[in-house]
Amino acid sequence: MTQPASVVPPRHVAIIMDGNGRWANARGLPRTAGHKQGVEALRGAVRTASELGIEYLTIYSFSAENWSRPRAEVVFLLDLLRRFILQDVAELHRANIRIKVIGCREGLESDIVALLEHSEKLTRDNTGLTLIVAFNYGSRQEIARAARSIAADVRAGLLDPEEITPELIASRLDTVGIPDPDLLIRTSGEQRISNYLLWQCAYTEFVFVAEHWPDFTRESFEQAIAEYRRRERRFGGLAAQTA
Ligand code: IPE
Ligand code: IPE
Ligand code: MG
Repeated sequence: MTQPASVVPPRHVAIIMDGNGRWANARGLPRTAGHKQGVEALRGAVRTASELGIEYLTIYSFSAENWSRPRAEVVFLLDLLRRFILQDVAELHRANIRIKVIGCREGLESDIVALLEHSEKLTRDNTGLTLIVAFNYGSRQEIARAARSIAADVRAGLLDPEEITPELIASRLDTVGIPDPDLLIRTSGEQRISNYLLWQCAYTEFVFVAEHWPDFTRESFEQAIAEYRRRERRFGGLAAQTA
């Protein structure tokens, strides 16, 4: 008999919120309507994660590659982020949620950087759910930034190449101090990782759901967690009953 791998809720859930555009197209609406509705689904997911006692929720809000979309869509997505922070940060703060932003801030409009920094600073000491917003995020770029910082330390004589371990590399990533995701959920039926948390997902369980992101409900979230609980995590070892 296979034992369920985990009876505890996942500590860290990462989500790829995908399918906003297709959700809108299916309704004869512009893609932007899907993004707007996606924000509602995000609010619900944050509430659910908090209530279920999940400690870390990482959401992919804008990838380093999403700049290649039509300019009008990019502008809309940036505005949506601005509005989300302006409208929701006070409430997230009241709910004891700590906000952290990962991704590259270089080259971003200065008001956006200021909003991101403000939300992190305001909620820094909160002790509830940590909401990690991956914005202008690409995992390869993140790893390259870490490699650059390590190389600079080696060149300056601060670090010996022998000291470059997986732990050292992890400590230079944007996710320093955050445990690796236990569960990654991607909506909309796509089964790929799209440059998200490549290093961090070495042993993460993946759950792909068919619904588009705006249709992702509390029930969908709970079903994904139930699926995660049926998985057996081995981390390269052996199943518990055969060990
Ligand atoms: C996810 O939905 C939101 C972002 C990538 C910002 P999409 O915009 O990718 O929607 P689809 O995948 O085209 O349907
Ligand atoms: C990943 O979705 C990025 C976000 C959800 C923000 P995409 O829609 O950009 O990914 P691909 O292009 O389908 O792989
Ligand atoms: Mg997509």
